[in-house]
Amino acid sequence: MPYPDAPHDAMRFETLAVHAGRRPEAATGAVAPPLVLSTTFERDAALAPLGAHTYIRESNPMQTLLEDAVAPLEGGAGALAFASGMAAGVALVQTLPAGAHVLMPDDAYYGWRVVAREFLPQWGLTASFCPMDDLGAVRRALTPATRLVLVESPSNPLLRVSDIAAIAAAARASGARTVVDNTFATPALQRPLDLGADVALHSVTKYFGGHSDVQGGVLVFRSREEAYEKAAHIRHILGAVLAPFNAWLVLRGLRSLAVRVAAHSANALAVARALEKRPAVARVNYPGLPSHPGHAVAARQMSAFGGMLSFHVKAGRDAAIAAVGRARLFVRATSLGCVESLIEHRATSEGAGSTTPQDLIRLSVGLEHPDDLIADLDQALRREPASV
Ligand SMILES: Cc1ncc(COP(=O)(O)O)c(C=O)c1O
Repeated sequence: MPYPDAPHDAMRFETLAVHAGRRPEAATGAVAPPLVLSTTFERDAALAPLGAHTYIRESNPMQTLLEDAVAPLEGGAGALAFASGMAAGVALVQTLPAGAHVLMPDDAYYGWRVVAREFLPQWGLTASFCPMDDLGAVRRALTPATRLVLVESPSNPLLRVSDIAAIAAAARASGARTVVDNTFATPALQRPLDLGADVALHSVTKYFGGHSDVQGGVLVFRSREEAYEKAAHIRHILGAVLAPFNAWLVLRGLRSLAVRVAAHSANALAVARALEKRPAVARVNYPGLPSHPGHAVAARQMSAFGGMLSFHVKAGRDAAIAAVGRARLFVRATSLGCVESLIEHRATSEGAGSTTPQDLIRLSVGLEHPDDLIADLDQALRREPASV
C-alpha cells in the first residue's frame, strides 16, 4: 500500500526518486525498507501463498520493491530487475523470435559486440551495426527482419549522441521496437520512453547504485506487453535474478540519484571545458560542449549532460597510457557512475577486438571538487621531464 499522499506523476524527479516505491511498514514502522533475504515463501493450509511470492527466482519482495520504484522514474508501466546490465539487455534480445535482426550502434558498449559475434548466431538471430548518430544510416540499416534497435545515448566510450525520438519513430514505422541504454544519462537527465522508445535499459551497477559496490540491471517497459511478459519468464526460468541485498543497495542509491547526477554533470562540464583548452588534448567528447557534433540533439533530449566524458591525447596511444599511469586522484579502474572519479585507457580495458581509438582516455567524473580533478589531469598530462 503506498502512502495516501504518495508521490505522483505531477511531482518532480527529485521528489519521486526519494520516495519511489516507499510503503508504510506496518509491522515495525521502519523507514528504510526491511531487507528480506528469504528464498522461499509460505503457503496456508489450503496451499494458497500467504503473500505475493512463492520462490525467490520467480519473484521476491526486494525485487518487486525496486521494480515498483524504478518504473515510474522512467515513466514506464513496468520494470524488471536482473543480476547485471548485460543480463537485462540479453533477456530482452532473447524475447525475439529466431530469424529476427537486431540493429546496434557501431560504438555500442563492447559487450554487445561479443554478444552479436558469439551468441546471437547460436540463437538464430542476426545483428548489424550502424552509426546511430546518423539518422539516414539508421534508416538504411533497418531491414524487414529488424525487430529491435539498440540505442546508446550518450554512447560508451565515444559519447556520441543519437536522436532517440527520430530513431524510435523510424524503427516503429519499420515494425521494430527501440531499446535505449540509458545508463550514462539516467532518468534524472533523459527519459527515453517519453521520447518514443519502447524499453529503457540500465546497468544499475553505475549511477543507480552509485558507490562501486553493487551490480544489477533493469529493463523498464512502456507497457506491460508481450515483451515484458516474455522477459519476466526468461528471468524466472533462466535465473539471472538480482540478489535481494543488491536490490536493497540499488534502492538506497536511487534515493540520492538526482542530486548525485546533477553534481556529476556540473563537475564533468568543468573538467571537459578545462581539457578542451589543454594543448596535449586533441579532442574532448562531451555532449555538453558546443563543439560536440551532437550538442543540439543532446540539449533537446537531456536536461544536463552527465558525468561521463572521453578525450583524445594528441601524442597518441603511449602518451595516453602514460597519462593514465600518472593519475593520482582519479582511480585507475573501469566502470562508471560512482562517487570517486575513474580514469581508464579504454582500449586496454576492452582488450582484444576493441575498436576504441588507442589515443582515447575515458573519465567517469565523480563527486570530488572539480578543481582538484582538473589539477590531477594537468599533472597527469604534463610532458615527461627531460632526463638530466
Ligand atoms: C553503457 C553500458 N551498458 C551496459 C553495461 C553492462 O552493465 P553490467 O556491467 O552491469 O552488466 C555497461 C557496463 O559497463 C555500460 O557501460
